[in-house]
Amino acid sequence: MKDIKTLKKLIPADVLNKRIKELADEINKTYSTDEPLNLICVLRGAVMFFCELSKHLKMPVNMEFISLSSYGNSTNSSGKINRANIILPDFNNQNVLIVEDIIDTGLTLDFLIKYINQNCAAKSTKLAVLFDKKCARKYDVKPNFCAFEVDNKFIVGFGLDYMGYYRNLDYIGYFEDFSE
Ligand code: IMP
Ligand code: MG
Repeated sequence: MKDIKTLKKLIPADVLNKRIKELADEINKTYSTDEPLNLICVLRGAVMFFCELSKHLKMPVNMEFISLSSYGNSTNSSGKINRANIILPDFNNQNVLIVEDIIDTGLTLDFLIKYINQNCAAKSTKLAVLFDKKCARKYDVKPNFCAFEVDNKFIVGFGLDYMGYYRNLDYIGYFEDFSE
């Protein structure tokens, strides 16, 4: 674990929440308010973003939770999915929106989008992310809704962790010695 006193603030809570509200407005404009939307929360990193975003959505929302991880305790992607716990229903030709904390190499989301398209009978599968670390991309995955782009820093807070810690912070921070 690292000393929280050395954590530098990158995005304060009010800026995060304001931008998430804007993203929800974009999502509200994209989908019909009469049609159900199935939100999939990718645990554990997306949890705060998922809760904050869903509060502002106007259509009937169903919430699903799955667990996926490609990082383990490291600050770099392991290159494979370590833990996959996916129990999802048949979506009966309804829209699906995956909600994820951050796309890095794109491995996790490439895997999940293919899984949903092959197994869940979704009408459409789109992707909302809090952060896009574009410079690290190895798989061809693009978010449909993205709150912030971030450069090659390892960030924590608002659901994002380092070795399981710091998810509870209401802001985004980074440790200077992790940046490249
Ligand atoms: P990918 O599969 O390489 O795209 O990695 C995506 C996953 O890695 C995310 O869902 C996060 O859990 C984790 N991750 C990537 N970058 C960061 C970061 O800067 N901080 C915390 N977790 C990260
Ligand atoms: Mg994640």
